[in-house]
Amino acid sequence: MDILIIGSGGREYSIGLALKKDKNVEKIYFTPGNGATDALGENLAINDFNALADFAKTQGIALTIVGPELPLVEGIVDVFKERGLTIFGPSAQAAQLEGSKIFMKNFLARHNVPTAKYIETDSLEEAYRFINTLEVPIVVKADGLCGGKGVIIAQSHDEAKRAAGEMLSGNAFGDAGSAIVIEEFLDGYELSVFAICDGKDYVVLPAAQDHKRLLSGDKGPNTGGMGAYAPTPLVNEDIYAKLDERVIKPTLKGMQEEGMPFTGVLFIGVMVVKGDPIVLEYNVRFGDPECEELMPLLKSPASELFYKAAIGDLKNAKIEFYDKYAVGVVMASKDYPYKNSDPAEIIIDEIHHEELKENAHISYAGVSRGEDGKLYATGGRVLVCVGVGKSIKEAQKRAYMLVGQVHFAGKQCRSDIAYQAL
Ligand code: AMP
Ligand code: GLY
Repeated sequence: MDILIIGSGGREYSIGLALKKDKNVEKIYFTPGNGATDALGENLAINDFNALADFAKTQGIALTIVGPELPLVEGIVDVFKERGLTIFGPSAQAAQLEGSKIFMKNFLARHNVPTAKYIETDSLEEAYRFINTLEVPIVVKADGLCGGKGVIIAQSHDEAKRAAGEMLSGNAFGDAGSAIVIEEFLDGYELSVFAICDGKDYVVLPAAQDHKRLLSGDKGPNTGGMGAYAPTPLVNEDIYAKLDERVIKPTLKGMQEEGMPFTGVLFIGVMVVKGDPIVLEYNVRFGDPECEELMPLLKSPASELFYKAAIGDLKNAKIEFYDKYAVGVVMASKDYPYKNSDPAEIIIDEIHHEELKENAHISYAGVSRGEDGKLYATGGRVLVCVGVGKSIKEAQKRAYMLVGQVHFAGKQCRSDIAYQAL
């Protein structure tokens, strides 16, 4: 089958790489893709959903996979489905689980899914009243999509009130902050759990941990994620069972009952507090960089997982994972996450080590192909070095060996990815 992947990041590259190894897949198209995805398939420059659906129709695309949240929230799945095309992802209605934190929190409350105590409001007075009842730290979130920046963890009541005021006045995040969620701070450890859903049935992928801070030791500013690993030993059978019963099943059932069955990736941001998983947030797509570690762990053909989910037939899929670990280290450009950096040529040493050739690879993200045919670092998160192994330690060692082979001016990465598991 021919497959179309929407997006341009390391996440989409890694999905492409998994599909490239799949003998059911003939050709892969990316739109827009990046400077390296053209080695896995063909990059297109089509943005408009109707034009993309036209392309999928005339080209006989069997499956479209949507990487990022924005086209999902904007309804790409609805456009494709109206045209009778097969697409993996939630409808615009179902994508509200990520598109609106208020929708998500109220949905969790309606279906008794454990989440932090909260209010939603567009009134500053009400916000102040609730803030006064909470202990610090206090969490203030803008309702809408803010590219991962709409959450403030305030260390004092004054700071929380200021954050609420700036969001509600429209100064901080424009319309996305015209309503806010204020919630209690949860103290525990954070997990990224992914369920591939077909509306009724689901497959849970090995649980991952992201590293959101820029610098080793969880210091520095928040980023989109500087590295991840999976599976994490911090999740045992008990936590998986609680996630099934308390979170995933009631969510899928609730979405069905409310007339918006959930198809696609349900990304559950979980805080484990005293052995109980509590939902921090839902996203409706793969995490980036988590996807880059999960794809290499997938033993079954990737097309089977995504296609069966898209057509509502997961119960007839037997999805298997390797009994291995993957660690991914993000290499970012010089001024990430503050501002764009000048393009820098990427040079990769020739890899002689058999161990690395077979058990490590790069997932490319913020890269462009220059007119000279060379690859340049042009984005914030440039690439992810992924190592796979029989233990987390071995996978980590391989990921960092690969990091040592990659050079570009101003490169930066954390030196402690997966530390929580070691
Ligand atoms: P969100 O976009 O809702 O996932 O929030 C971004 C990050 O803020 C999360 O990944 C957590 O690290 C942190 N966070 C969000 N909500 C809470 C909370 N209630 N308690 C503690 N940390 C939180
Ligand atoms: N790595 C976290 C995210 O993709 O939101």
